[in-house]
Amino acid sequence: MSKCPAVTIENVHKSFGPVRALRGLDFTIQRGEFFGLLGPNGAGKSTLINALAGLVRPDSGKLAVMGYDVESEYRDARKRLGVVPQELVYDPFFQVRETLRFQAGYFGLGREVEPWIDELLDALDLMDKVDVNMRALSGGMKRRVLIGQALVHKPPVVILDEPTAGVDVELRRQLWSLVKRLHGDGHTIVLTTHYLEEAEELCDRIAILDHGGLVALDTKADLLARGISKTLHIHTSERARNLPPALADKIKRITEDYIELSFSLSEDSVMEVLDTIRDAGVHVIDIRVEEDDLEDVFVQLTRDARQ
Ligand SMILES: Nc1ncnc2c1ncn2[C@@H]1O[C@H](COP(=O)(O)OP(=O)(O)O)[C@@H](O)[C@H]1O
Ligand SMILES: [Mg+2]
Repeated sequence: MSKCPAVTIENVHKSFGPVRALRGLDFTIQRGEFFGLLGPNGAGKSTLINALAGLVRPDSGKLAVMGYDVESEYRDARKRLGVVPQELVYDPFFQVRETLRFQAGYFGLGREVEPWIDELLDALDLMDKVDVNMRALSGGMKRRVLIGQALVHKPPVVILDEPTAGVDVELRRQLWSLVKRLHGDGHTIVLTTHYLEEAEELCDRIAILDHGGLVALDTKADLLARGISKTLHIHTSERARNLPPALADKIKRITEDYIELSFSLSEDSVMEVLDTIRDAGVHVIDIRVEEDDLEDVFVQLTRDARQ
C-alpha cells in the first residue's frame, strides 16, 4: 500500500437523470503532486470531488484516497482527505473555533490538535473572529473557516474546489501561501480553478474535463507545448511587400515597420517565416515570439471536444 497513488479514479460514471456528469473517468493523482483539475462550468469537477468525499455516489467505477476505497473503506479514505467545497456550507450556530474543533472531533482528534487550530486561525487571519458565530461572518470570512475545516485533521490529500472564486486578493495570497506550504510539507494538492493563470503558476500536472470526460491529462509543460499557434511580432526596416500568399494569409497586422503573424506550431517554423520575409527583400530588425498560454490551450481543447 505504500506506493499507491494519492487519488485513484477508475472508470467512474455518474448521471443525474439525463445529465451525464461523469463519463468513465479514469486517472490517478500521485502522492505529492500539485494537480490541477480544470474544465468549463458543468464539466463535472465538483461531482468528481464530491464523489471522492463520499457525498455523491457514482453509478459505477471505483474511487480511492491513499489506497482506501471511498465506498468500502469510507472512514479511512475520508480521514486522508480534506475538501474545501465550492459551496459555502456551514452550521450557522457554531462559532469559528468551535467549528474547527467540531470538525477535528469528527476525525477523532481532541486537545492535541489545538496548536494546529491556532496556527490555521492565524494563517487564515481569523484570530479576531474565533468567538463569532458563523452566520455573522462575511462570505470571504466563511470561506476562510471552510479552508481551516478542510485542513484541521492534516489530511495528506487536500482538494480545493474553486477556492478563490469571488474572494479578495488578500485571501488569495494567504491561501496560496498556506497551500504552497502544505505542498512543501508533502501534501498532495488538487486544485480546481477558473483562473487559469493560477493553475499555470501552481500546478505540475493538469487534467482538463469537459462534459464529464477527460479532454487532456498532461504536465503543464506538455500542455503548453500543445499550443496550436504562435504569434510572431516582427520589426522591419520598411513595409513588407510582395510576400507570398501562403504567408500573407497569416498576417494579423502590418504597418510601415511592423508585421504581426499568427502561425501554426505544427506547420511552420519561425526560421522559415523569417527566411520568406527576407527573400521578399525586407530587412528584419527584431522579432518577438509569443506562445499560447494555458488559457489558449484550454479554449482550443474544450472547443475541439465539442465539435
Ligand atoms: N445534484 C445534482 N443534481 C442534478 N444535476 C447535477 C447535480 N450536481 C451536478 N449536476 C449537473 O452535473 C453536471 C456537472 O456539474 P458539476 O460537477 O457541478 O460541474 P463543475 O463543477 O465542473 O462546474 C452539470 O450539468 C450539473 O448541472
Ligand atoms: Mg464546480
